[in-house]
Amino acid sequence: MRNLLVTGGAGFIGGNFVHYMRKTRPGLRIIVLDKLAYAGNLENLKGLHEGPGFSFVRGDICDFDTLDNLFGREKIDTVVNFAAESHVDRSILGPRAFMETNVMGTFTLLDAARKHWVDGGTVRPEETRFLHVSTDEVYGSLGDTGYFTEDTPYSPNSPYSASKASSDHIVRAYHHTYGIRAVTTNCSNNYGPYQFPEKLIPLMIINALNGRPLPVYGDGGNVRDWLYVEDHCRAIDAALQKGRPGQTYNIGGGAEKKNMEIVELICSIIDEKAATDGALQGLYPFKGPRKGLIRFVKDRPGHDRRYAIDCGKIEAELGWRPQVTFEEGIRKTVEWYIDNRPWWEKILSGEYMRYYEHQYGGS
Ligand code: NAD
Ligand code: DAU
Repeated sequence: MRNLLVTGGAGFIGGNFVHYMRKTRPGLRIIVLDKLAYAGNLENLKGLHEGPGFSFVRGDICDFDTLDNLFGREKIDTVVNFAAESHVDRSILGPRAFMETNVMGTFTLLDAARKHWVDGGTVRPEETRFLHVSTDEVYGSLGDTGYFTEDTPYSPNSPYSASKASSDHIVRAYHHTYGIRAVTTNCSNNYGPYQFPEKLIPLMIINALNGRPLPVYGDGGNVRDWLYVEDHCRAIDAALQKGRPGQTYNIGGGAEKKNMEIVELICSIIDEKAATDGALQGLYPFKGPRKGLIRFVKDRPGHDRRYAIDCGKIEAELGWRPQVTFEEGIRKTVEWYIDNRPWWEKILSGEYMRYYEHQYGGS
């Protein structure tokens, strides 16, 4: 691995991954390609300086010519594909962008890799690797028991998960048909620094700080398996180094939580901090208890009830397991959003705010 192309590297997980790789593999050249769609933010790459080890290119994974140039010019031998439309609610409101980026974009990226790695031979085929970052949502919804394994049949329920499932199948086909050395990872819900504040955890932290309503969908009993984003970055690195081409690996945090549990925990962490920190209380004058801000709102259509991951394969084959407990990770995350108010204030003042008001009438 010499010249690594990270698509979607200005987003939440991609940004964390680029920081992680710069820290742990300083000799590697990283080229980030990102369209800077609404969730892409160059501030997520702050502190990384353009130079021999890192460069940023604004571009779309649906654009073959851009990819073709980049693969040739930069002698790309490794790809990690994070670029995607990633938010389920948005996929319900407007599915087209999901099909374009997640399906056609992944296809176009694979096709550029095929041209340069299989047909053109710009780099030695045995030194190439294509890692496709996917989701546990492709497996559908679980009942009260059981876990997703790599053999669980695909059963996507939202336009988002259907688009990701399609992309996984295209990756598989490019491995089997053209010999692209591809690995797919299917990960559970991530949380941590730089997550766009439309997702459950950052949305609830910011609203709770500001004394705004906390919209819980349905009965709040839906379960997700939460993973701290740096643990996901470590897992992707392990899959890049040691994953077997053609294989898929599930990644999860072993931290199943009901949505209500999470929202209540965020409320109590913030109340507790505000009680002992005068400066915080001054910045966010809302007098708790913040649990009083919880509002049950209309459920998400087709809302999957429960996700839970069996990580046995990645643990056994690649020696990976999560290192950050949910209790540690959620505290670190609340602290990050408290310490990085300018980051999210800029976002809230713009496009995201309009979207939020469209969905919840500004409440
Ligand atoms: P994100 O929405 O924060 O970031 C996506 C990035 O992709 C943004 O920077 C955006 O500008 C970029 N992008 C969008 N369309 C593009 C295009 N056509 N060309 C180039 N760049 C484009 O998403 P995230 O949460 O960081 O998720 C990253 C990947 O991980 C996605 O593929 C997602 O499906 C997967 N995933 C996410 C989670 C999670 O909990 N967030 C869990 C498992 C898997
Ligand atoms: O499982 C992995 C997936 O996790 C990723 O593939 C997706 O990219 C990522 O967005 C995430 O999908 P979810 O739909 O699970 O995440 P979200 O943060 O949108 O919602 C988490 C849960 O919280 C879900 O049950 C819906 C609920 N929810 C969400 C929001 C935004 C609420 O109750 N209220 C809210 O305001």
